[in-house]
Amino acid sequence: MPRIDDFPWTESEIVDLAGRFPTPFHLYHEQGIREQVRGLNKAFSWCPGFRNHFAVKATPNPYIMKILMEEGCGADCSSSTELVLCQKMGLPGDQVMFTSNNTPLKEYAIAKKMGAIVNIDDFTHVEFLEKELGLPELMSFRYNPGPGRTGNVLIGDPKEAKFGFTMNQLLEGYKACKAKGVKRFGLHTMVVSNCIKVEELLETARMLFTLVATIKEQTGVAIEMVNLGGGIGIPYKPDEKRIDVAAVGAGVHGLYKELIEAKGLGPVRVVMECGRYITGPVGWLVTRVTHRKSTYKNYVGVDACMANLMRPGMYDAYHHITIHRDANPPKGLPSRESDLPDNSKDYILKPGSNVFDVVGGLCENNDKFAVNRPLDPAPLPGDVAVIHDSGAHGHSMGFNYNGKPRSAEYLYRPDGSVLKIRRAETIDDLFSTLDFPGAQAFGEGPVASIVAKARTWLRSDTAKVVLPLSLAAAFLIAQRRR
Ligand SMILES: Cc1ncc(COP(=O)(O)O)c(C=O)c1O
Repeated sequence: MPRIDDFPWTESEIVDLAGRFPTPFHLYHEQGIREQVRGLNKAFSWCPGFRNHFAVKATPNPYIMKILMEEGCGADCSSSTELVLCQKMGLPGDQVMFTSNNTPLKEYAIAKKMGAIVNIDDFTHVEFLEKELGLPELMSFRYNPGPGRTGNVLIGDPKEAKFGFTMNQLLEGYKACKAKGVKRFGLHTMVVSNCIKVEELLETARMLFTLVATIKEQTGVAIEMVNLGGGIGIPYKPDEKRIDVAAVGAGVHGLYKELIEAKGLGPVRVVMECGRYITGPVGWLVTRVTHRKSTYKNYVGVDACMANLMRPGMYDAYHHITIHRDANPPKGLPSRESDLPDNSKDYILKPGSNVFDVVGGLCENNDKFAVNRPLDPAPLPGDVAVIHDSGAHGHSMGFNYNGKPRSAEYLYRPDGSVLKIRRAETIDDLFSTLDFPGAQAFGEGPVASIVAKARTWLRSDTAKVVLPLSLAAAFLIAQRRR
């Protein structure tokens, strides 16, 4: 099995890390994140004001945001939670792009209060925004080229995608906003995802730069900012090559000279909103092999599941997996040498082949990190299984089906220390929105209901403050009366 060359730890180091922190956990490499941003910024250093608005949805963690802010990134947010995360981290509003869809008013209100750049997904939102909140100073629109581009499995076929304006709507939108007094304009699209072909990424720049001229000709609006979207891909498979990000920057520069500068349309600020390219290859899901099972196929069970990383189950996405033997595995796992009855006749695969489905413990058959995957060494209970390239759209896409708590996140620092940047969820976290006393008293009459309400209140945060204060006050009053 090919090893990933740039995996930053030796076998004994990763086994040691897996022994120090309860598996499963996501592990990010701080220096790696910084280097990814620096590479992208260097590629676009020809463009004054270039900024990567990191797609917060990829890895929404405040520590990661802090690192990215130090490296000059802004943010791309798609929800109020992501906006508030950036606000709490002190990211200035003009470095935040709000690209949402089907957006409720309260989310626009948060974006407006922060001074975020609002990137509208739908023509009708122009009037909606004007009526409810007033139009912002800088308006940006998301373009959907429909049949003009093909998209891919992650982003979908643009003409089937729910996102963005058609060309006609785009032109009408700019005209309408200009007539309503908006002075500054941006243009955005997001049509490719996980793209490792330079040419395909350049097509997006060509499409948008050409549109800048069309918009100027047909509406008189001068676009001041073009957002090429995210979508720069990473090599998930060991035989795939890293994209030459310098070639992307140079190619976009060439198109900028040809389609913007030569036509006297500049200056236009070029920005991007890559998530995966920045954190994807420098994050790993570290798990431990819990069981082996052989029925019609060979299965390797690990202690993570699709709730920790949904991409393989959802998109059939490939994530490389490496197995690291732990000479001193933790207690409480099955024996490494178990005697199986001979079921070789039942096998779909060649008996004894080291080809496995790597599975979690969800009651869903697509809870698989890999299907028919050759693994060497053949995993044994207690081994450490590392799922690579999980740093983006990994933990953040997690969910709680079957009551699976989300795992912790750790950051490997340049000095070799490891920082917990998110604790694992507990069962109490999952139950914290439920009312057990209420459910127990449910249907048992008014007295039981009042008792249940009192018990619920006694467990509330308010009670934790009010009760000690009331007791203290009662004690003081009693003392004075004596
Ligand atoms: C609007 C938008 N921008 C940026 C991104 C980030 O994409 P990537 O992480 O592939 O760069 C996404 C991903 O879903 C997106 O929907």
